[in-house]
Amino acid sequence: MELRFQCLGPDHWKTEVLLAPVFQGESLHEASPLLDKAAPWLAIAPAARDFRGKKNELSLLHGHPQQNVPRVLAIGLGKAEEFTPGVLREAVAAAVRRCRALEVEGLLLPEALLSRLPGGRDRLVEESAYAALLALYAFRDLKKEDPDAPRDPQWLTFAFDGDYVPDASREAARRGERAAQAVMLARDLANTPPNMLAPADLAERAERIARSVGLGCTVLDEEAMRAEGMGALLAVGQGSARPPRLVVLEHAPEGHEQDKPLVLVGKGITFDTGGICIKPAAKMHTMKCDMTGAADVLAVLVALAEEGTPRRVVGLMACAENMPDGNACRPGDVVRAASGDTVEIQNTDAEGRLVLCDALHYAQKMWTPAAVVDIATLTGACAVALGGEVAGLFTDDDALAERLTAGAELGGEHLWRLPLWKGYEKNLKSQVADICHMGPREGGAIHAALFLKHFLREGVRWAHLDIAGVDWTDSEQPLGAAGATGFGARTLLELARGGV
Ligand code: BES
Ligand code: MN
Ligand code: ZN
Repeated sequence: MELRFQCLGPDHWKTEVLLAPVFQGESLHEASPLLDKAAPWLAIAPAARDFRGKKNELSLLHGHPQQNVPRVLAIGLGKAEEFTPGVLREAVAAAVRRCRALEVEGLLLPEALLSRLPGGRDRLVEESAYAALLALYAFRDLKKEDPDAPRDPQWLTFAFDGDYVPDASREAARRGERAAQAVMLARDLANTPPNMLAPADLAERAERIARSVGLGCTVLDEEAMRAEGMGALLAVGQGSARPPRLVVLEHAPEGHEQDKPLVLVGKGITFDTGGICIKPAAKMHTMKCDMTGAADVLAVLVALAEEGTPRRVVGLMACAENMPDGNACRPGDVVRAASGDTVEIQNTDAEGRLVLCDALHYAQKMWTPAAVVDIATLTGACAVALGGEVAGLFTDDDALAERLTAGAELGGEHLWRLPLWKGYEKNLKSQVADICHMGPREGGAIHAALFLKHFLREGVRWAHLDIAGVDWTDSEQPLGAAGATGFGARTLLELARGGV
């Protein structure tokens, strides 16, 4: 769907459907007198009398088909005092989907109906664009075209009635569009079946996309990883016929080449069978999303390169496939991580932290990070604790926690802080190695986070996002289809943009 802008008086607006977000208890006329000009028939439209403006209420109002604005889709926003940009996101998304079902080609959203809402005009333009695009997302790559499926609406026009379209509004729509594209790229990669996306495939995709947008990209293969001593990452990959990769992306815009970079590190397990400690079959297919963290990192770097964000950002994608075969690592194995630490592996299904510990070490060896943020579908324990709508945030850095949480909320993602509980560090002691990669089941997300923390040098700002449980949804959501959610891409993009 294309985002358009127009600057005309309301009596010149022409559209198949005009979207009218309205508060509960308010008439369309009260929402904006411009509507009377654009669709004079509204005042006597019978169905308008039944519209209450409740949250999620949609009402399609018809005028004469020959008129400039033959239809108005009234969208309920609920109570004015409970309004947030998230309410508008869901309202716009629902309206866009309704328009798809109606096979409408183009929609028009009057700016005047947004600028009166709390939150600021451009923020709401940004969120409308974001929601409209994500509402139409579907992973269609592998299906035959369905001749009966309704065609997506082709454009959404923001209609201004002043003398010009403000640059700030155009930029806001662009920002929303970029964020949506980032989330959709992450979803596309995570939805891709695991047979079609081995670590080397993911690395190749990353390289290709990076080249097209002007990102730096290098890929460490097994030999390069061996030279770096990345025994933990290599151990995870060794049970697969398809070798691991570490993808390094860099956005270093002119004048910022020497900045201390923000380093984003993503878990990129292209499929997680559990390895020798094999997972039960039920729902195992969702483990194709175990590379969502890495997909998020790629998506965010692409967005930053495209919008030329004036800041240096490095992205690391730690990619491997966790499979059981004759060469797979075993519970009880001890491997040497890149940091030099020996690590005892007790459960081969706790593989994410192993690929991450080598990537985290590499981040600090190669750069002096302004901050490191890793993102990973790391523990079932986190999913059990927090459910499917909120991800775990671990950090000792209050300012970084604040920025991440604010960035997440801005985009409609939610983080909840969990403790890096010092008292549990003793649970990672190993009888045979410097550290064991896991502790008891209880507090499993914390033990995983503490294991990662072990690989961070004193004084390096660091946060860890555990997105297990929010990376996948069984049912359709307001802003997306069932399947991969791309959770985290928007949050990390907001962090990197610094617009929090
Ligand atoms: N990828 C999984 C975690 C996961 C679970 C992600 C559910 C999404 C939904 C991870 O590699 C894993 O298997 N973790 C184990 C660790 C345990 C063996 C210490 C887990 O959580 O069971
Ligand atoms: Mn696992
Ligand atoms: Zn995993």
